[in-house]
Amino acid sequence: MFKVKDLFKKYPFSWSQLQYIFSSLFSEDIFRLYLENRYIDDSIVRRLNYVASLYSEGVPLEYILGKASFYGLSLRVNRSVLIPRPETEIMVEKVIDYLRNMSLSQFTVLDLGTGSGNISLALAEMASAEALIISSDISFSALEVAKENFAHYSCNNIYPLCANMFSAFKEKVFDIIVTNPPYVESTYLKKAPFLRHEPLLALQAGEDGLDFIRKIISQAGVFLKKKGRLFMEIGYNQAERVKKELECSHKLRLVETFFDYTGKERIIVAERIN
Ligand SMILES: C[S@@+](CC[C@H](N)C(=O)[O-])C[C@H]1O[C@@H](n2cnc3c(N)ncnc32)[C@H](O)[C@@H]1O
Repeated sequence: MFKVKDLFKKYPFSWSQLQYIFSSLFSEDIFRLYLENRYIDDSIVRRLNYVASLYSEGVPLEYILGKASFYGLSLRVNRSVLIPRPETEIMVEKVIDYLRNMSLSQFTVLDLGTGSGNISLALAEMASAEALIISSDISFSALEVAKENFAHYSCNNIYPLCANMFSAFKEKVFDIIVTNPPYVESTYLKKAPFLRHEPLLALQAGEDGLDFIRKIISQAGVFLKKKGRLFMEIGYNQAERVKKELECSHKLRLVETFFDYTGKERIIVAERIN
């Protein structure tokens, strides 16, 4: 047995990670235990040792604990879904800003490649107007996770759907298509050990990382209503190439781009022309 203050010597976790672990696994407030100068009992030590051994093998804490935070939501995750990233929160913010400015009373959104359902849920929770959100993914096991998250937040305006890209949809039905597609180059994927625990299906996008992005640019216009918008996350080094792809589109025009927290152009907004 040892005291809470000695946790830092024993484990490779920061204070905020320990707070997260203690509240998730033991429903305990570590700050209180610390102030009370408490001992950590053996059953907790055994579980902490297990968490630390997985973590030192490179397994992200989110997969170990089975949960991740996104836009103030607590989401269930497992290895079937990508761990939601902060840059995707920026995209959600931009979609919400757009909806507020347009003050649409009703709108239809496609969240293409929904994963854990993070984007759909953040939009459903924040959008004031009446939204119909279709959350599609080719991965059945990812959709199972998304469905758990939708049920947890009692969302009744989100419709999960297993589909390959746009194969399930009719023309001109969406006001918004929002997507964080797979966009990692195959060579980078081999060199990035920190991605090895996440699903390949969520990451790999061919030699130049643009396989999905090209398909989305060539097809999204068909499924957007006139003046409908595509919000798409892209890789840190892809903006110029994606803009060139958009210049060749007959149905979409680039409206604006947004940057991530490191100053890289990461969010593309395009509009259906006619
Ligand atoms: C980068 S992840 C994004 C997940 C989630 N939206 C997020 O922002 O964290 C891409 C998602 O696209 C899905 N996907 C891959 N290929 C697809 C396809 N052909 N059709 C539909 N979804 C696909 C993957 O299963 C994965 O969940």
